Amino acid sequence: MLLPVSTWQDIDSWLKKSRTILIPIGSMEQHGPNGFIGTDALCPEIIARHAESLAPEDVLVGPTFSVGCAQHHLGFPGTITMRPSTMIAAMVDWTESLMRHGFQRLYWLNGHGGNIATIEAAFSEIHARRSFDLRGADNRPGLTLKRRDWWDFSGVMRLCNELYPVGHGSHATASEVSVTYYGYPDRARYEVEMSPKIAPNGTIGDAVQYRRDFPDGRIGSDPTQSTAEHGERIVKVAAQAVLDEIRRFAA
Ligand code: NI
Repeated sequence: MLLPVSTWQDIDSWLKKSRTILIPIGSMEQHGPNGFIGTDALCPEIIARHAESLAPEDVLVGPTFSVGCAQHHLGFPGTITMRPSTMIAAMVDWTESLMRHGFQRLYWLNGHGGNIATIEAAFSEIHARRSFDLRGADNRPGLTLKRRDWWDFSGVMRLCNELYPVGHGSHATASEVSVTYYGYPDRARYEVEMSPKIAPNGTIGDAVQYRRDFPDGRIGSDPTQSTAEHGERIVKVAAQAVLDEIRRFAA
């Protein structure tokens, strides 16, 4: 089921059989000359929706939390970011809204490495709020929060290494661009050329340093290798891994 196109009665019925929801979480930041600004939000969304299409009875996909922590990309037009403190506050509000209806297991499918520290801090904040609040502490329902980075499944990593032994990179990667080309094939930018072919590597600081050290936005990648056909293969492996994991998580 997809929450944004469900009715409240659908969710009421869902809660009679499950307390679990999957929330894609990403970022709205530049992804180099041929990658979409929404790449990090689109990848977990595309994978989550594919998993849902395989087993609509087993997965409820929430709205995509599509803006994350991307201050270091602000040197590039179109990037939107939240401060870590704002993102934590927003994740607390999303979680507590869902908890009010009885959701107890939130599986956040993440698409952005720069979100990891803040997502984990948000989990700590949510648990701390519960720990400080003693109302109903003895018989209160449990809460389990989980973060999964979509590229981190062993089968996905294996496939990406096989598809891109050289120039996979760490930002605007060949695999993430492929996943979005699979999701939006009519918008793929196969004509774009890049120089150097493989982008430089380095460390990330603030927006000015990032734009200076990584002038076209990529880090270590050659996403001219990206294709919709590769993306389809990656999405199928990742979606099956998500489905297997969320079934265990919900049990
Ligand atoms: Ni990305």
